[in-house]
Amino acid sequence: MYKLDQDETPLFDALMEYVNRETIPFHVPGHKKGVGMDTEFKDFMGENPFKIDVTVFKLVDSLHHPTGPIKKAQELAADAYGADATFFSIHGTSGAIQAMIMSVVTDGDKIIVPRNVHKSITAGIILSGAIPVYMQPELDKKVGIAHGVAPSCVEITLNKNPDAKAVLIINPTYYGVATDLKAIADIVHSHGIPLIVDEAHGPHLGFNDKLPMSAIEAGADICSQSTHKIIGAMTQASLLHVHSKYVDVNKVHQVLSLLQTTSPSYILLASLDCARRQIALHGEELLEDTITLINYARTKINKIPGLYSFGEEVLGVPGCYAFDPTKLTITCRDLGITGFDLDMILANKYHIQMEMSDLYNVLAVGSFGDTKESVNALISALKEISNEYFGKGNKKSNFIDIPSIPEQLQRPREAFTSLKSSLSLKNSIGLISREFLMAYPPGIPILCPGERITSEIVDYIQKLKDVGLFVQGTEDPKVEFIKVVKEEDAVYINVE
Ligand SMILES: Cc1ncc(COP(=O)(O)O)c(C=O)c1O
Repeated sequence: MYKLDQDETPLFDALMEYVNRETIPFHVPGHKKGVGMDTEFKDFMGENPFKIDVTVFKLVDSLHHPTGPIKKAQELAADAYGADATFFSIHGTSGAIQAMIMSVVTDGDKIIVPRNVHKSITAGIILSGAIPVYMQPELDKKVGIAHGVAPSCVEITLNKNPDAKAVLIINPTYYGVATDLKAIADIVHSHGIPLIVDEAHGPHLGFNDKLPMSAIEAGADICSQSTHKIIGAMTQASLLHVHSKYVDVNKVHQVLSLLQTTSPSYILLASLDCARRQIALHGEELLEDTITLINYARTKINKIPGLYSFGEEVLGVPGCYAFDPTKLTITCRDLGITGFDLDMILANKYHIQMEMSDLYNVLAVGSFGDTKESVNALISALKEISNEYFGKGNKKSNFIDIPSIPEQLQRPREAFTSLKSSLSLKNSIGLISREFLMAYPPGIPILCPGERITSEIVDYIQKLKDVGLFVQGTEDPKVEFIKVVKEEDAVYINVE
């Protein structure tokens, strides 16, 4: 099924050759294979990482102008993922997302995005000067999270904005819920424009058929995956894939080169090369074991009073088309404690660190690094916590509906560059926000840069604060003040 020999790791091999030659280093980094490194740090790390912490030269190739092992390693990754071309990102998926957006839209172009964008998407929109058109994702009030965007929502938004130049979808969500991406790709392509996918949480999709369909398989034109999040690459190492007649591969290369450091870490790059080999050759069985283990945890957790971990029963409602069983969302609302509380108890009392928490949930990310022992430790900690809190009459907080998306007066880039002042929320009504305002749950912005602050929004924030819910996004951690742009100070207001 692969065209190339996926057992090869050309970049890692080149680094091994550099090590085996016992090369004398008159190049950066200045620690010179660890000799000049702080002793305590080196003692902890061991010597090997420093031996392959090198810089750009012929033997190990250049990320910006690859002609040797990096070129070959990227071709192997494209082959493994079924892409026309793949690029290594050492700026995580965040950097890759900025590059994807800047490759397909430019100043004044409309791009359709879900409202619950990751900040890297906003960064890409600010950098490109594009105009975002927001789609509201589907809300699940039971567990207080946002799922995917439904195909019908994409269709309606595209019909209202026939001049849009691209659609961006986040798939799957952090919590492992996938939308019907194939249907969305067909809709987007019927308008003759590309589909961009933020697949940060899906570098393992496509390697086991119990997982949701991958973006490339579904027909996405360009996508980016946090290889470091779920499979074996090191933190910051991501992949960007192109598979499209709508996206210019050379432009993507050019934009990535504009955004990425000229001193990429070869440790990170080599980890991408080896993580690709691992998932291509052994992904199916490794993921099978992970799915079995996390499903075992889910079954056990669902028997613990006060806890709930959703599985495939979440499917069928709009925006929920497929489920990634390696994700374990643990809803603790019925214990009468928040997800933040549960996160802290697990970390401080049991030394178990979860990936993320929100008002109702904690999230465990499953991977083939998990063991039965670690999963059992989590289950027994959760049993003890349930014994302590369940049925003790603690108050549960309720979901409050979010206000409608406000009027957009400026592009995010204009709001970002306009003169700003800080005002109390009450005095900001009618002005343009330069900041985000977000409530948890469900983590969807109520206000984005460039949008009009309304009394409905200010009242809503007050209501959330009154019941002790979590609001964030402003520079002011208490969300009493917000950075605003006065219309007379705005750089250029050109959004109808
Ligand atoms: C949906 C989504 N997109 C993009 C990113 C950014 O990925 P990275 O941390 O690899 O830069 C994240 C990170 O958590 C994310 O959750």
